Amino acid sequence: MNILVTGGNGQLGTAIKELVGLYPDWRFSFYDLPELDIASEVQVTDAVRSTGCGVIVNCAAYTDVDRAETEPDIAYRVNRDGPAVLARSAKASGVLLVHVSTDYVFSGSSCRPYTETDVPDPLGVYGRSKLEGEQQIQQIAPSYLIIRTSWLYSLHGRNFLNTMLRLGAERERLGVVFDQAGTPTRASDLAGAILAMIGRAEPGRGYAGLFHYSNEGICSWYDFATAIMRLRNLPCRVSPIESASYPTPAPRPHYSVLNKGAIKTDWGFEIPHWYDALADQLSSQPANQP
Ligand SMILES: NC(=O)c1ccc[n+]([C@@H]2O[C@H](COP(=O)([O-])OP(=O)(O)OC[C@H]3O[C@@H](n4cnc5c(N)ncnc54)[C@H](OP(=O)(O)O)[C@@H]3O)[C@@H](O)[C@H]2O)c1
Repeated sequence: MNILVTGGNGQLGTAIKELVGLYPDWRFSFYDLPELDIASEVQVTDAVRSTGCGVIVNCAAYTDVDRAETEPDIAYRVNRDGPAVLARSAKASGVLLVHVSTDYVFSGSSCRPYTETDVPDPLGVYGRSKLEGEQQIQQIAPSYLIIRTSWLYSLHGRNFLNTMLRLGAERERLGVVFDQAGTPTRASDLAGAILAMIGRAEPGRGYAGLFHYSNEGICSWYDFATAIMRLRNLPCRVSPIESASYPTPAPRPHYSVLNKGAIKTDWGFEIPHWYDALADQLSSQPANQP
């Protein structure tokens, strides 16, 4: 099995890289900017041809939710046009396209976990551009798996966990919003689920699947931050604040918990609770790091 991974240097791409040893019979090709821009038809076509891949895993995205408000052209180019290019190439080559999307396709006005059949209603440019990326794939690619996830973190790159570890070492006090609820997702858990799905996918069968995947449970950013400080024994005191006192350029959903019933039923996954995944992640971090 040949697998082409785009956005290979990002959080999720790196998490997949760390698992390749578990799949000695598969050949992985990791690409990122500048050698493979997913919105470049020429570069994508060349990469698909030269790797002879049977699966593309798209981990590339424009993920700066706030900056997307002032750079919508770039966000749409990467999050909508890029998936369309990948879908056309996947169609031309008979390749399965695995794509990752986000809980931010929902506004958060619900008070029960979102299912795949709930109608998306994104609040900002990032969510809208990701939703349109999903739609491009659904319209173009004959075989695809789209996996929406939420609050992704790892020890690699810019994310909430790394920000909290840094601030927790620098500050005595920190205010973190407690009126936005969701579920953190350890990037390595999502990476493992994606590779398991590829492993179980039947060759030649057309897939048209949209699934939700995060860790189990529900928390606020405040709960998540508190857990990080506790698990790392950081002396920083975290206080709950309202979103209104922490304004951001892009509005955030107040509730973006994803219902994972479909992926658990269809693919038989047992998903770790967010707190256990976080504890495990932090226990793997060298003790001399914050
Ligand atoms: N992070 C989250 O909290 C979160 C939550 C829900 C869903 N997701 C989704 O999960 C997926 C993975 O996210 P992540 O956190 O791993 O993202 P990430 O760390 O920001 O990685 C994205 C990678 O894509 C690259 N990239 C940007 N534009 C590209 C282009 N035109 N062509 C090719 N590569 C490009 C980035 O390069 P540069 O760094 O050079 O720009 C980066 O290496 C994304 O689809 C994201 O929307 C993320």
